[in-house]
Amino acid sequence: MTKTTYGLGRLMLGISTIAFALLANTPARAQETGESLFKGKCAMCHGPDGAGKTMMGEKLKIPDLHSADVQKLTDGELKTAIAKGKDKMPAYEAKLSKEQIDKLVAYIRDLAKK
Ligand code: HEC
Repeated sequence: MTKTTYGLGRLMLGISTIAFALLANTPARAQETGESLFKGKCAMCHGPDGAGKTMMGEKLKIPDLHSADVQKLTDGELKTAIAKGKDKMPAYEAKLSKEQIDKLVAYIRDLAKK
């Protein structure tokens, strides 16, 4: 009887350790920033700083995201470009959530201030 209780205790401890590990993982996702998203998903074409000075950038004539041409677009237009794609720019609506796209738009605005 005591042995069983002990075993059960171990099991419960194991489960709570897993549950804790899962919970502890959640803030890592919340810390995802526009910058980390951009570096992970967009930098191979747009360059880490968004200037588009990459091999792909030259080839595809990617606009500098700091440029007035891009910055004059509204947040809505930027979101649509990211979600639906534009010409050779791939569509991201299936890969990114609305929140992630919002963060990317904010990051593109931040770039222009640098
Ligand atoms: C395969 C290369 C590639 C990747 C990856 C890529 N882009 Fe683009 N992007 C382009 C090209 C090419 C254009 C120019 C499209 C055009 O002809 O107007 C562009 C244009 C843009 C524009 C300007 C849109 C406009 O209306 O002028 C924004 C904003 C943008 N990309 C954001 C992003 C973001 C954010 C990501 C990551 C989620 C991303 N791009 C990933 C190739 C890429």
